[in-house]
Amino acid sequence: MFSNLIHSARLVQTLNQIMPADIKAKMSESNDAKINELVKRIQSQLQPHLELRPLEISDYSKKYLSLLEQLTKVGNVSQQQFEQQFEQISKSHSTYQIWVIEDIQTEIIVGNATLIIERKFIHNCGRAGHIEDVVISPTYRGQKLGAALIEFLTELSSIFKCYKVILDCEEKNLKFYEKFGYKQNSRHMAKYQPENE
Ligand SMILES: CC(C)(COP(=O)(O)OP(=O)(O)OC[C@H]1O[C@@H](n2cnc3c(N)ncnc32)[C@H](O)[C@@H]1OP(=O)(O)O)[C@@H](O)C(=O)NCCC(=O)NCCS
Repeated sequence: MFSNLIHSARLVQTLNQIMPADIKAKMSESNDAKINELVKRIQSQLQPHLELRPLEISDYSKKYLSLLEQLTKVGNVSQQQFEQQFEQISKSHSTYQIWVIEDIQTEIIVGNATLIIERKFIHNCGRAGHIEDVVISPTYRGQKLGAALIEFLTELSSIFKCYKVILDCEEKNLKFYEKFGYKQNSRHMAKYQPENE
């Protein structure tokens, strides 16, 4: 009788451990389906030789870092360093969403935008989305690729249940983001630490 009780208690404990994982798996499946649909929709707005997809480890050879040079100093990053960093980032798939546009004719990455999903205690353990590293290769600008990436990441942040999406931008790009419903609402502060550059 006593051993039965222990057995039942263990069973409940085991079920408690299994259930959240089970629910989690289901949630992730439904997220994947929504993300696939969203990708299809945004992809349909692009020319056929342009492909929207997550960053891949092989993108080092597709001039990915040259594209990022358009934003800031990248430094002398070797393929090995790139791959190690990629592996680290990939472990946090639900935090880092790095999306690119590849020109599949030239096999060059021509657009990039990143969504970082920050898990918080405030807002009922809510999530805030941070858009980073939005850039389109100069010869591809003005073809609505930046628009496609911002529309995509904004909707992606909603799929990931972010209660807000924020980003920093230069004065000259304010009007670009305003087109997608973003509003200026705070001041950015930064302290650069040259010892860690
Ligand atoms: C800003 C940037 C991402 C825009 O990408 P893009 O592909 O050229 O922009 P799109 O063609 O998608 O433009 C969409 C709309 O925004 C407008 N737009 C684009 N850049 C703009 C800007 N800087 N200011 C005002 N409007 C802008 C376009 O005219 C277009 O308007 P429309 O829909 O009325 O025709 C691109 O110019 C870029 O990579 N700049 C350098 C890097 C950078 O500054 N990144 C932003 C970091 S915060």
